[in-house]
Amino acid sequence: MSASVKDILNKKGSKIYSVNVGDTVFHALEVMADKNIGCLVVFDNDKIVGTFSERDYARKVILRGKSSKETKVGELMNRDVLYVTPNDTVEDCMALMIAKKTRHLLVMDNHKLAGLISIGDVVAQVISDHKFAIKELEKYITGDFGSTT
Ligand SMILES: NC(=O)c1ccc[n+]([C@@H]2O[C@H](COP(=O)([O-])OP(=O)(O)OC[C@H]3O[C@@H](n4cnc5c(N)ncnc54)[C@H](O)[C@@H]3O)[C@@H](O)[C@H]2O)c1
Repeated sequence: MSASVKDILNKKGSKIYSVNVGDTVFHALEVMADKNIGCLVVFDNDKIVGTFSERDYARKVILRGKSSKETKVGELMNRDVLYVTPNDTVEDCMALMIAKKTRHLLVMDNHKLAGLISIGDVVAQVISDHKFAIKELEKYITGDFGSTT
């Protein structure tokens, strides 16, 4: 059976790093560097209004002649926020990431923000599932099901 978003969140947790729409791009970069992450959820009061990623910074700041200390996250954030649910499979996530050319998806559980998953989380889950499947097949082939005593 295919692993789900729930399996990923069980491993990585539901902690979410965010900034406010009025914060500067410089502050967002500081948070991303401090937490060693590539994307932040952007809030306006209690409402999710976008995401801001390293890619947004790379493509929308210097190339457009803007300064990170003067530009607000709200000006450059990505407003097309993509959501998955805990029951979606890793294949669903990969398909969405490829179709929408994004590396991060927010997880929504019953209208509540339940986490964030990245392309690395999805790849790590796929590798772990493959390792498990290979081990099971090896056991089947060699007849080694471990000691029963
Ligand atoms: N070993 C693992 O399980 C694992 C998992 C994810 C990423 N990575 C590695 O980290 C590097 C970068 O990863 P990436 O490109 O997937 O993206 P990334 O740097 O944005 O994400 C790194 C980790 O931080 C988490 N994260 C990112 N933004 C977050 C936020 N706002 N709130 C809460 N958590 C957040 C992601 O879910 C992921 O677990 C890669 O080298 C990748 O291989 C390893």
